[in-house]
Amino acid sequence: MKVDNSAQLVRRIERLKREKRAVILAHYYTLPEVQAVADFLGDSLALSVQAQKVDAPIILFAGVNFMAETAKVLCPDKKVLLPCPEAGCSLAESCDARDFAAFKARYPGYKVVSYVNTTVGVKALTDICCTSSNAMKVVQSIPKDQPVIFAPDRNLGSYIQKLTGRRNMVLWDGACHVHEEFSLEKLLALKKQHPLARVVAHPECRAYILDVADFVGSTAAILDWCGASEAREFIVVTEAGILAEMKRRYPEKVFIPAPPDDETCACNNCRYMKMVTLENIAACLENESPEVVLDEEVRRRAERSIRNMIAVK
Ligand code: 13P
Ligand code: SF4
Repeated sequence: MKVDNSAQLVRRIERLKREKRAVILAHYYTLPEVQAVADFLGDSLALSVQAQKVDAPIILFAGVNFMAETAKVLCPDKKVLLPCPEAGCSLAESCDARDFAAFKARYPGYKVVSYVNTTVGVKALTDICCTSSNAMKVVQSIPKDQPVIFAPDRNLGSYIQKLTGRRNMVLWDGACHVHEEFSLEKLLALKKQHPLARVVAHPECRAYILDVADFVGSTAAILDWCGASEAREFIVVTEAGILAEMKRRYPEKVFIPAPPDDETCACNNCRYMKMVTLENIAACLENESPEVVLDEEVRRRAERSIRNMIAVK
């Protein structure tokens, strides 16, 4: 069997996109070669907003399951393709919809804020979604005396709780396998080796990492902050896929990935995001499958929580 090389695969993908009028949305954590065939590259919030603006019958989502589901929730009339259905998310999987319904039942009268890194079933149980870009604004849009359930990321939840001083917030005990793995000891050693470097971290990291960061923010916020900063060197404490965009945007700056606790595991790379490849994108476009299919009632309820998020200014 003939094995396509990357250049051939890219040409095949570009041809299929034209023929089928398909648009590829990709997250910054995907492989650099996948990012290169995307029509739009963004973080979770930007991708959700962009999905609604797509003027094409087919969206291929190069990212993990919950992201493709979110696009389908917002664009029910479009065909949303997911090149690798096995690309889950440890955070989304840490919050099963049935368990979450039971948890919610223990807190009657609470408003539910969920991170977009959830299944469509959890979004359907949510009042208002958030991403790491807008979590502060979303929580602040809720009156201070209104108790809140925040799910599923306990690190992002604690960080927001600390910044807002909200006590009436209960947290679901979930976490992302990538952001939980960073080692404080190794980060501090790296800081010593690079005393002028600034530390940038994603709020899904543990509190002891966030405490030593110069900047905490979402993928998009980190990218912007590094551009605006006068520093030349940055230690990056988030998923390493972001480095491709950092180098593209700021070739004159130096970006050093923070090591995970176990450096042999490469676990500062999201194994799910890296399951999306040029091969499965080409095959998915060719076959127009696998496609995201959702139960309409669940989709409608999930849509409300995502639209509530988008409406927060
Ligand atoms: P962003 O909201 O920064 O895109 O985060 C997505 C994600 O999966 C973080 O782990
Ligand atoms: Fe999920 Fe973590 Fe991967 Fe983001 S980095 S998609 S939260 S497993």
